[in-house]
Amino acid sequence: MQVVRTRHALRTTLDEYAPTVRIGFVPTMGALHRGHLQLVAQSRSANDVTVVSVFVNPSQFDNADDLARYPRDEARDVAMLADAGVDVMFAPGAEEVYPADHATWVTVTGVTDVLEGVFRPGHFRGVATVVTLLLRMIRPHRAYFGEKDWQQLLVVTQLARDLMLNVEIVGVPTVREADGLAMSSRNARLGESARAKARGINAAIRATQDRYVQGERDALVLESLLHAALAREVELTVEYATVVNAATLRAITHVHEPARVLVAAAIDGVRLIDNGPLG
Ligand code: PAJ
Repeated sequence: MQVVRTRHALRTTLDEYAPTVRIGFVPTMGALHRGHLQLVAQSRSANDVTVVSVFVNPSQFDNADDLARYPRDEARDVAMLADAGVDVMFAPGAEEVYPADHATWVTVTGVTDVLEGVFRPGHFRGVATVVTLLLRMIRPHRAYFGEKDWQQLLVVTQLARDLMLNVEIVGVPTVREADGLAMSSRNARLGESARAKARGINAAIRATQDRYVQGERDALVLESLLHAALAREVELTVEYATVVNAATLRAITHVHEPARVLVAAAIDGVRLIDNGPLG
């Protein structure tokens, strides 16, 4: 695996491949886990070359403390990606992505108006901008994003289409721990008792999905069940817990189109998100 740190080295490296190779791209912020590796595996199975970026993007953190505490372990990331058969790891410094005179930001409207967009002001502007820049630098045929960050997947799909970036955005199902907790770099920050409680988030989503499978179609009934299940975990501070249209994230009264259950909750100051499909 080649590790490159500048735009120039990245371009030189990618230009060595024949112009016909299919490049698959997996953007990450490092602190890698099995969820990230699942994206890598999908990329490898469908493309000739897989590029993974590891860049903790400052502009998508709405909170300086969260950025400072974001886990970083580059040596471990390098070893995991090499082991996974990645061809190129792009680990740029902040100045490579945002030169001092950087002044252009990408704002996606609509799908960013709700949920994470409300609780993390500026977050999606940072995500949309860095993803656009990385897609322009790497110019992949396909790029892989986890369904774990469902709203982010919708934002990236929208921007790739609107900016005509000529890339296929591929969504990858969420990889979970044995007890259902969605894998996340932030899980490392959970203490033992918080870790045990964190499973309650997915358990509540599963309970909602079960009720849907049993025939309940009233979105408000499903949403109250979700809230009740989350309330049983007293240490969870719920930011949002909702049943919405899966594509627009808009409120629905009845589940007759693809819908999604989405939850954001904090435990011991660690903010976790998860979601799952209805129908
Ligand atoms: P990060 O949180 O490192 O996640 C990188 C990619 O891995 C995202 O597409 C995310 O949805 C996916 N992912 C994380 N946990 C997953 C899991 N348990 N199962 C499946 N996929 C999972 O998301 C970001 O970084 C950043 O916002 C980024 C897109 C890199 C832009 O900075």
